[in-house]
Amino acid sequence: MKFQMTPAEMLKAARAPEPGDEGYDPFEANDQAHLAQEGVPDPYPVFSELLAKCPAHVGSMSEIAGATTTSDLLAGERQVVNVLSFDGVEAVLRDGAIFSSAGYADSMGLVMGHTILEMDEPEHGRYRKLIQQAFTRREMERWEREIVIPVLDHYVDAFAERGRADLVAELMFVFPMHVIAIALGLPETDLPAFYRRAVEITNMANEVERGFAASQWLYDYLEPVVESRRAEPRDDLISLLAHRELEGTRLTNDEIIAFCRLLLPAGAETTYRAASNMMVGLLCNPDQLEAVNQDRSLMTAAVEESLRWETPLVGIGRTAIADEVVDGVEIPAGAAVNISLGCANRDPSKFEDPDRFDIFRESKSHISFATGPHLCLGIHLARMEMRATLTCLLDRLPGLRLDPEAEPPKILGWGFRSPAALHVVWDV
Ligand code: HEM
Repeated sequence: MKFQMTPAEMLKAARAPEPGDEGYDPFEANDQAHLAQEGVPDPYPVFSELLAKCPAHVGSMSEIAGATTTSDLLAGERQVVNVLSFDGVEAVLRDGAIFSSAGYADSMGLVMGHTILEMDEPEHGRYRKLIQQAFTRREMERWEREIVIPVLDHYVDAFAERGRADLVAELMFVFPMHVIAIALGLPETDLPAFYRRAVEITNMANEVERGFAASQWLYDYLEPVVESRRAEPRDDLISLLAHRELEGTRLTNDEIIAFCRLLLPAGAETTYRAASNMMVGLLCNPDQLEAVNQDRSLMTAAVEESLRWETPLVGIGRTAIADEVVDGVEIPAGAAVNISLGCANRDPSKFEDPDRFDIFRESKSHISFATGPHLCLGIHLARMEMRATLTCLLDRLPGLRLDPEAEPPKILGWGFRSPAALHVVWDV
């Protein structure tokens, strides 16, 4: 794969001031929003205390978090139940008939359109069948060779000779967006504008109006692309979505565009956070990083342990449509159910000494990709991107370690978690 622009040129174009909005840089705004999370407490000691009392916490988390949490905002006047235990979280996620996903229509749906995330059965199953073939493990092997490895190399080429970098700004934040843009079949000349809007969507929780505007921009940009792929299919994801047929039905333009837009928060943002957290876990435990370097068969354990230890998406939501008892706790019909994937992944009844990052721990499934009908559709892509990132960094940056002159990395956030920066050095 040939790239016409270097990463620096691409970023410069994406950050270039826009007429009438000269003082605004979405990348800077996103960094500032991330750093503001420094004031938010670490959720894990809080979760641990609550879980020790009960498998679910009934009531608001905002007071405990020291800031209004997104889940409380979405709950409005409804009662909130925070399911915390591994067994409770698993039970809620498996029961799509009682615990509906439709509530996302009032949050993500307003910006993304009607996506798979907010669908219940039978609509969800029909839609999912139409798109899941695009994300099989086998298909992801092709993406790895043709897209992911070349994109990773392109970014690492830009700093490999330098001997130091901020891995978040120079690699993690940008490469998953680039992978999605190529998979969608977008031309490289459009990438700076696509990046800019993708960052505005990522920062949507902090700057809602800009998030809406960016989403509308993406709609207007993608609609003619979808039309042209219907007429002349190419070897890309949009063509595949436009032509797939199930029992005589095809996806509409709106459905395709909603899915493409969802890929930014669901696919790019989660992956950048997950890959960053993985590198924090390994770099802060250099013996484990060296073990993976020496024995690449430990790669899978490193990826899975990092997803368990620092779940990038800490909580997701459902609405109870009937009274139900989960892990001994009564959840009334109508309650907003906040499912704490992060807390479940550190449930001491499932994982011994759960706060410890340990790639050698007994292998048990974590729940970072959810489970049940809405199990993450990008699970093979995410795992492959994380493995490919680690392989690329180990192969290309010998002696990779934390920069002793920089602040140690800190994983921040209550709803989404990752470090704002990750300064590293290596031998050149
Ligand atoms: C480490 C990275 C990732 C994590 C931790 C993650 C996590 C999740 C979680 C927890 C859900 C369930 C949401 C809910 O039901 O409320 C989900 C759903 C989804 N994810 Fe991921 N995800 C990741 C990467 C990706 C990637 C790379 C893609 C790109 C295709 C993707 C696409 C989706 C889609 C389309 C859904 C909706 C599935 C459905 O509703 O049936 N995710 N993800």
